[in-house]
Amino acid sequence: MTESKIADLLSKMNLEEKIGQLNQYFSFGNFDAEIIRKGKAGSVINAAGALTGTGESKSSDAETCNNIQKLALDTPHGIPQLFGRDVIHGYRTIFPIPLAQSASFNPELAEQAASIAALEATATGIKWTFAPMLDIARDARWGRIAEGNGEDPFLGAQMAAAVIKGFQGDDYSAPDKLVACAKHYVGYGTAEGGRDYDAGEVSEPTLRDIYLPPFEAAVKSGVGTLMSAFLDLNGIPASGNRRLLTDVLRGEWGFDGFVVSDWDSVVELIQHGVAEDRAEAAAIALHAGVDMEMVSGSYIETLAASLQSGKVTQEDIDEAVRRILRIKLRAGLFDKPFTDPDRATRDLLRPNSRTLARQFARETMVLLKNEDDLLPLDSNFKRIAVVGPLIHARSELFGSWSPDGRAADVTPLGDALKQIAPAGVELVFADHADKATHIAQSTDAIVLVVGEYPYRSGENSNVSDLSLPPGQAELVETVAGLGKPVVLVVIAGRPLAITKQAAQVQSVLYAWQPGIEGGAALGEILFGLEAPSARLPVTFPRATGQVPIYYNQKNSGRPIRADGPFKSRYVDIPNAPLYPFGYGLTYTTFEYANLKLSSETMRGKLEISADVTNSGKRAGNELVQLYVRDLVGSLTRPVRELKGFERVVLKPGETRRVSFTLTEEALAFTRADGTKGIEPGKFNIWIAPNSQSGLQGDFKL
Ligand code: NOJ
Repeated sequence: MTESKIADLLSKMNLEEKIGQLNQYFSFGNFDAEIIRKGKAGSVINAAGALTGTGESKSSDAETCNNIQKLALDTPHGIPQLFGRDVIHGYRTIFPIPLAQSASFNPELAEQAASIAALEATATGIKWTFAPMLDIARDARWGRIAEGNGEDPFLGAQMAAAVIKGFQGDDYSAPDKLVACAKHYVGYGTAEGGRDYDAGEVSEPTLRDIYLPPFEAAVKSGVGTLMSAFLDLNGIPASGNRRLLTDVLRGEWGFDGFVVSDWDSVVELIQHGVAEDRAEAAAIALHAGVDMEMVSGSYIETLAASLQSGKVTQEDIDEAVRRILRIKLRAGLFDKPFTDPDRATRDLLRPNSRTLARQFARETMVLLKNEDDLLPLDSNFKRIAVVGPLIHARSELFGSWSPDGRAADVTPLGDALKQIAPAGVELVFADHADKATHIAQSTDAIVLVVGEYPYRSGENSNVSDLSLPPGQAELVETVAGLGKPVVLVVIAGRPLAITKQAAQVQSVLYAWQPGIEGGAALGEILFGLEAPSARLPVTFPRATGQVPIYYNQKNSGRPIRADGPFKSRYVDIPNAPLYPFGYGLTYTTFEYANLKLSSETMRGKLEISADVTNSGKRAGNELVQLYVRDLVGSLTRPVRELKGFERVVLKPGETRRVSFTLTEEALAFTRADGTKGIEPGKFNIWIAPNSQSGLQGDFKL
């Protein structure tokens, strides 16, 4: 049905109309209705920008979209517009930033949050979001680490599938579902020096085994669109890479949706130095497999002439149109082109959306240190000082890419803590060191809130130094010197190298940018109404100089763990991270025992199990992780790879046997001959609380 409708439309459209579909239109304020009337755009982007994290920018609305849609339907073939916007971690109900969402290791919650984002965004006329961002990040200097799922391809793939399911549902023609866009294809996180937009280099096996899997998972989940990245990867700008955009994406994976460029990334082929002018840039991008051009207009300007001169083929143009029409048809736009203007009042910021935002925020905060069980703060602490530059934070809790959030929807952090604090506990506030020093004497404990403002991470917000922002290290030093127990809370869009500060305080809780309900969620954890359950989705470096740093590194010929003096190392700091991938504490402790493998040799699959016991005094929630190491391969293999995770909730003293099934398929990798598959040999396996410890066993394949 869809395909015959596409063929029918295609047979009736003239060249101009076809090229119009390939153009995404954005107006800087002055919307030109003629563009739509004349069929010169296939999509309208209601862009807001990455740095609008203060939550005060102009939103979309159903009425405006409907008016534009009327113009589109009045064109000869009545092809509807697809309205796109960056709905990254919530629309009006802002959820924790994507990196934090990953820390929950809870794809189901991510799915539910994306589903709420879809409900809200579609209520304002948006039918297409530029999310999820699936870029693996091994370098926290890169600001966009905040927008992705961290460093691990397995976790990244799980989150990708979940978020796409949340946005798109089983059928994204439903009025409350959105077309998703997996971005930025591909390797965007390899930008040298952590400088956004810069070039990157990655080997083919690493590209295949680390960077591509989340995108492949997205395609398997039925994602409607992908976005091509800005960067030059291995000398070929991603928006002009036919091998990756066509051979791999369409050929190997069977993707039949469309690819949109990133903002101006088609014409940037000129700056990259692979195209002489806009016509050549457009021809390269289209032929590579970029079907729609985001905003820069070179397709609409040059493709007709390029067809005449033979720079592009009719088939390249037709195929791009076909893919775009296919997604518009699947999105139900031909049948339901308009948005009910009453929906916004009903669907934005529903009470249950806030409830989910609260739960999600709570499940994303990672407890990194808790000396003498300072947390949770119990009723012995009668008067607590809450100190630091972010104690009155509202939209600062959103993080970047939250253009439709509203500061007024957020209870300021300090007020939220007050509301949660148990009766009889008094909170006193100080936003700077002098006041903190002044009030500290009369308090029993200090909660010190430091970290990053939203515009310090996200797109193009890179740092050369992963320390706390200027002045905050001094604040921690002063406050820690007051002689009171200190809980350090860090609100941030990336892992910060808080080595010194973590040593100065008793407890560290990493809250990321927790979203609209972040304050209350933080209070619930600090005062023990809830226990932390999140784990690190990225390695925490001890110093900036350690990046790129990631747990699934190669062993080298001289690993730090080997004997002898000449090892891979720094002379000034240890190699080990401050906190490893997968790490996180809670208010109880767990013990692992009795690792068992169903066989010494894997044939098809293997069962691996272990006993996990709650050895502490409170009920608790443990994330049990499964890692493997392939000891000998035709290419070198990572020292560990995550292959599974499972949560268990245990009462004090309770033991549960946790078991995983590992399949041969999960051991496949890109081999020396370039093919993907398994290789017989010896493997190590761990059931573990994080990527650096656990019970170890061995098996053969
Ligand atoms: C540029 C960003 O790289 C991309 O992630 C975003 O979706 C587009 N701008 C549209 O705003």
